Amino acid sequence: MAENHNISPAIFPPPETLQNEAHVKSMEQYRDMYKHSVEDPDGFWGDIAREFHWASPPTGKFLEYNFDVRNGSIFIKWMQGSKTNVCYNALDRHVKNGLADKIAFYWEGNDPHDSGHITYSQLLDKVCQFANVLKSLGVQKGDRVAIYMPMIIEITVALLACVRIGAMHSIVFGGFSADSLADRILDAKCAIVITADGVWRGNKLLNLKDIVDSAVKKCHAEGHTVEHVVVARHLLPSEEYVVPEDDGDHRPARRPSHVLKISWSSPRDKWWHELVAGVSTSCDPEWLDAEDPLFMLYTSGSTGKPKGVLHTQAGYMLYAATTFKYDFDYQPDDIFWCTADVGWITGHTYVTYGPLINGSTSLIFEGIPTFPDPGRFWAVVEKYKVTKFYTAPTAIRTLMGFGDDYVTKYNRSSLKVIGTVGEPINPEAWLWYYNVVGNKKAAVVDTFWQTETGGHVITPLPGATPTKPGSATFPFFGVVPVILNEEGKEIEDDQEGYIVFKQPWPGIMRTVYGDHQRFETTYFKKFPGYYCTGDGGRRDSDGYLWITGRIDDMVNVSGHLLSTAEIESALVGHPAVTEAAVVSHPHPIKGECTYCFVTLKQGYTYSEELTLELKQAVRTKIGPFATPDYMQEAPGLPKTRSGKIMRRVLRKIAVGDHNIGDVTTLADESVVDLLFKLRPTDA
Ligand code: PRX
Repeated sequence: MAENHNISPAIFPPPETLQNEAHVKSMEQYRDMYKHSVEDPDGFWGDIAREFHWASPPTGKFLEYNFDVRNGSIFIKWMQGSKTNVCYNALDRHVKNGLADKIAFYWEGNDPHDSGHITYSQLLDKVCQFANVLKSLGVQKGDRVAIYMPMIIEITVALLACVRIGAMHSIVFGGFSADSLADRILDAKCAIVITADGVWRGNKLLNLKDIVDSAVKKCHAEGHTVEHVVVARHLLPSEEYVVPEDDGDHRPARRPSHVLKISWSSPRDKWWHELVAGVSTSCDPEWLDAEDPLFMLYTSGSTGKPKGVLHTQAGYMLYAATTFKYDFDYQPDDIFWCTADVGWITGHTYVTYGPLINGSTSLIFEGIPTFPDPGRFWAVVEKYKVTKFYTAPTAIRTLMGFGDDYVTKYNRSSLKVIGTVGEPINPEAWLWYYNVVGNKKAAVVDTFWQTETGGHVITPLPGATPTKPGSATFPFFGVVPVILNEEGKEIEDDQEGYIVFKQPWPGIMRTVYGDHQRFETTYFKKFPGYYCTGDGGRRDSDGYLWITGRIDDMVNVSGHLLSTAEIESALVGHPAVTEAAVVSHPHPIKGECTYCFVTLKQGYTYSEELTLELKQAVRTKIGPFATPDYMQEAPGLPKTRSGKIMRRVLRKIAVGDHNIGDVTTLADESVVDLLFKLRPTDA
């Protein structure tokens, strides 16, 4: 039985054991470093930059920027004039410095019998080989490469191969639908897509190749040709494929040849293993300008169209590496495990870039927290003696529901830091994580950040920061958070407002791919002079920051940001629907979920079957993770006289709260009663 952990002191000091080895050992040290970082960014980041390899040093000012739309276009430039290669810094630098045989990644399959590993020198060889393949397929500096892959070592090989030759990767999470993948390929005009045949996630088999085929077909119909589809063979067996004995690749344990069927279109489709056969394992890195693009990653936009968030070379490299080092208090003997998929920003920065640039050993996990049972995470922690672990509140809440025994039966004494990311963590889940998972010995780091910020921006430091359950605590080096009210005035302590940032840190995004104006409008227009996160928050009287969630039309479902407009457009795409309005609804495991109000066209009747069809429409358009939880018929929607939907009222109806406040501006108040009557019984 789960104990009741609700009674607890409000503040948790950093674990004593950590303080001896930590990079930052006290709040005093943190404050000194923080002051240096914001008052003298050139000096602070300049010192850090000396640990990296530069083909040529910066020639101009270390940092130049304009954060104020009133002074012209927004720009952020770090280390102008310098040249580097992030792949070189993540691999070659370590191989040259004695880490050639250090394990870069352990790979843990969905099936507990499947595992593998790869050293830094083996990874470098594979990356160079694949970089040569990309070049032979015509990929050049600045080209965009779409990657739609499962959590296998090849996803990091593909990513780093792009980085080595200066191509931009655009990774699309393997749970997105063919439509979403196609939209992203089209927006970036990718001529090449890298994928795998398929993958098991828990008991579900995903035919990735099929999804890519449909996406490519859709692109073709829109007039864009994908010339090459490179397919890594992960599940399908092959007669000529001999499992190498000594390279740590033990994957074939569960290859379901009889289940997975893929189709093939020559010459477009190419097997990865055939392309790399006999290709050289050396490939000179392309030396790139500090502000050359590194990658783009799409994130939901409040208008419904996803935004290609663009990060650049030097700044992102410094920031990914530095946040990883300090926020997980990285030590050379660590075994680090971030459970996020590489398809999200967390997997970019803290599965791939941050750990590799620091030369760490970390895990790539293909599975899910509940397969084969809800003890999987802790079985893996025990198996690899994981020291630093990083996951999402939704996973913590899910596992909490299965009771403590699944956790305590495994040895977790190796854990020193346990982190969370993606959404606000409720104190109850925080305390369970601290008490049960960490056994009161590990530091909990609740890290607040976004795809746009590149790395953590508000976070505790494990050896220094006393933590309060539910607070992401204090800003990282170089980050200056301010809380503003609607009028753009700084707010006094303990009142909620908009969380914005006053000056750039190296990891901040530089633009929205192909749409700089959207970048300026989305992040810099509402409060000139500040980067606006879109999140609400407050600062308590001790200076701790508390994030309270999105204050725009975005919903954070299990740590995945979804745009209500995008879901509405998927619903309106169904022939029965004339109008739809989607709002956020609290959910005990997912944090938030979506609640959809749908107005039907004349001649259609609302039914159970239609509800399922509408949910399916959203799955098909966006992906299974976006499937709405609640759906209800709305013969009318609460609108103002000017026709604006009052979402505030819909949010109240969704949770059955009759305390709806002032609705005198509604064109037709009677619609509110009607909507209350039509609420589904399970909502
Ligand atoms: O609302 C915040 C929430 O996730 C949003 C960013 O989502 P995304 O770009 O997909 O990146 C997720 C992983 C970095 C934020 O605007 N969020 C993220 N971390 C936290 C959080 N909310 C509260 N506490 C956090 N620790």
